[in-house]
Amino acid sequence: MILHHHVAHPSNYHFILDEPDKCSPIQFLVLMVPVAPQQVDARNAIRSTWGNESSVQGKAVLTLFLVGLTRGPEAQQQLEEESRQHRDLVQSNFVDSYFNLTIKTMVIMDWLATRCPQAIFSMKVDSDMYINVENLMSLLLAPNTPRQNYITGFLMWNQNVIRDKKSKYYVSEELYPESKYPTYVLGVGYVFSNDLPKKIVEASKDMKPFNIEDAYVGTCLKRLGIKPSRAPDPSQFRTYMKDSKGHNLSKVITTIARSPKQIIEFWQKVKRHK
Ligand SMILES: *[C@@H]1O[C@H](CO)[C@@H](O)[C@H](O)[C@H]1NC(C)=O
Ligand SMILES: *[C@@H]1O[C@H](CO)[C@@H](O)[C@H](O)[C@H]1NC(C)=O
Ligand SMILES: *[C@@H]1O[C@H](CO)[C@@H](O)[C@H](O)[C@H]1NC(C)=O
Repeated sequence: MILHHHVAHPSNYHFILDEPDKCSPIQFLVLMVPVAPQQVDARNAIRSTWGNESSVQGKAVLTLFLVGLTRGPEAQQQLEEESRQHRDLVQSNFVDSYFNLTIKTMVIMDWLATRCPQAIFSMKVDSDMYINVENLMSLLLAPNTPRQNYITGFLMWNQNVIRDKKSKYYVSEELYPESKYPTYVLGVGYVFSNDLPKKIVEASKDMKPFNIEDAYVGTCLKRLGIKPSRAPDPSQFRTYMKDSKGHNLSKVITTIARSPKQIIEFWQKVKRHK
């Protein structure tokens, strides 16, 4: 499995399902969720929780899902039915697999750059995440948060490239010769000023793609001379919370949920404490 030069560049793909008018009322924040076509439960959990917030602190928020190809005509029909019902699916014509996540991310960047250039901020967020949109909005509206060349989340410093062929994170020296990645933002959820998608797509034209999407975005940013920012309170961008009693869910911006059901539980917990 070798990703050839340019294979991640979004101009190689086209949209099968699209929502080109979603940004004509200008959105302040767009949350883009890469998800496999068959993960309906994950989408429904998000739709009934943080994905259902269209206005937060008076600012317009949009949540959309990005999928690749389905596995056959029946699955495609179901997806199209779901799309008619919810109007929140964008589908592109690449094979939807773990190996192709970099393509998925670049297609997200392309969608944002071409369909939603006037949005102020956007976020790439995985489908197993709990997002506290209220807290995210407070961060984005803070006077010190830049609206250009800004990206933040859970920062990854000084990460070694994995050369163990058995690892799912394996990257060959041919694809990425250096032994360490530049500082990047963990792929579970990174938020950025919406000038970046266009710049990242541009930069990717000259960058050999490899299959670690977040580190790939990091290499594009490095080429652009843009450094990921440390969040004002880095503890708001969490991965797994070891002990959900000890940490206060109403203070986080992101945390990983173990199931769609847990996304709903986290959501209800925070609502109750309001
Ligand atoms: C989204 O919120 C609206 C209004 O609060 C509610 O009527 C609707 O049922 C919610 N959608 C889902 C999928 O939960
Ligand atoms: C995507 O991934 C599959 C297998 O993981 C691969 O066969 C395919 O060529 C990849 N690329 C595209 C553009 O779909
Ligand atoms: C969590 O933080 C909020 C806001 O600071 C507070 O109102 C709430 O009581 C806290 N909950 C727990 C369980 O510590």
